Amino acid sequence: MAAIPLLGSYKMGKFDLSHRIVLAPLTRSRSYGNVPQPHAVVYYSQRATDGGLLITEATGVSDTAQGYPDTPGVWTREQVEAWKPIVDAVHAKGGVFFCQLWHVGRVSNTGYQPHGRDPISSTDKQVPTQVLHDGSIEEYSRPRRLRTEEIPGIVEDFRLAARNAIEAGFDGVEIHGANGYLIEQFMKDSANDRTDEYGGSLENRCRFALEVVEAVVGEIGADRVGMRLSPFLDYMDCWDSDPEALALYMVQALSKHGILYCHMIEPRMAVVGGRHHIPHRLLPMRKAFRGTFIVAGGYDRDEGNKVVDEGHRSGGFWPTVLGESRLAQEIGAECCVEQVRQDHLLHL
Ligand SMILES: Cc1cc2nc3c(=O)[nH]c(=O)nc-3n(C[C@H](O)[C@H](O)[C@H](O)COP(=O)(O)O)c2cc1C
Repeated sequence: MAAIPLLGSYKMGKFDLSHRIVLAPLTRSRSYGNVPQPHAVVYYSQRATDGGLLITEATGVSDTAQGYPDTPGVWTREQVEAWKPIVDAVHAKGGVFFCQLWHVGRVSNTGYQPHGRDPISSTDKQVPTQVLHDGSIEEYSRPRRLRTEEIPGIVEDFRLAARNAIEAGFDGVEIHGANGYLIEQFMKDSANDRTDEYGGSLENRCRFALEVVEAVVGEIGADRVGMRLSPFLDYMDCWDSDPEALALYMVQALSKHGILYCHMIEPRMAVVGGRHHIPHRLLPMRKAFRGTFIVAGGYDRDEGNKVVDEGHRSGGFWPTVLGESRLAQEIGAECCVEQVRQDHLLHL
């Protein structure tokens, strides 16, 4: 193990990572008309390191996937072409680059939807008005509950988006199954009140997520697929009455699909004495998952080094790679990440 555990190398499938710090997906709202812009070449290549893993900002899989201003997509030819120079710039610096595939579901309003239609979801229950982290107020429209026979079409959107991402040059994709968006709306019982085979039991609620995984794996191969999950969060009024069971069910199913990594967000962390206190409730999931386990949420340098070191010394555990945006700034000088300014990370 390296003297600084976070700076130890790690083999993630066929990718040789030179350190354990991952650029977390961070929505930027600067892709005008949903098309990635040339300035993203600068943004992402500034954050690339030789052998470092970067995950893009959440990227829409279709024209119904939008819910925030100017977020990028990967469903049109123009978007695929626009991503290419950005991916090339990251590769030129030796970075490993995954594209996060996203559908917001009901976290949207008619203003973002094609022809002003209602957003789609697992449910017709509306997200309550939210005060966002910058203090702005966001109103959501009442969603339209997807009919059972429409669901394969959304799965297909994820499959095609994965194919497009690979065509754009990405090394792989991360399926966004976190933070209250469409896939989570199906998984969690606060937002899934369906009575068909996509609702009710845990197995039924996870069916849509796993159909997406299966389709994407079938298209680009399990060795290029990761998935992000946040079973313990209640972001966007999306929560589950038994998050441990949900998380364990999903990591076991993802292991069966043999995907490259699972990227999980820690339960909401408490701030104790000015520092984030990480609850470390993800350990059982990490033990149950056979691939690489990436964690995010509140880590600083000490907590990051601790979790990587403990995972290494305990031997029986699968290795941990750490995803964290604040950490990347803090440790930047040590691992040659170029100086990252707060206004580059929090850019809404
Ligand atoms: C401005 C901003 C944009 C974000 N955008 C995304 C996103 O596009 N996709 C995603 O999965 N998470 C997104 N997140 C969540 C982060 O990836 C991360 O999970 C969260 O900030 C907690 O980790 P941290 O404590 O390292 O910041 C965003 C967070 C912030 C603050």
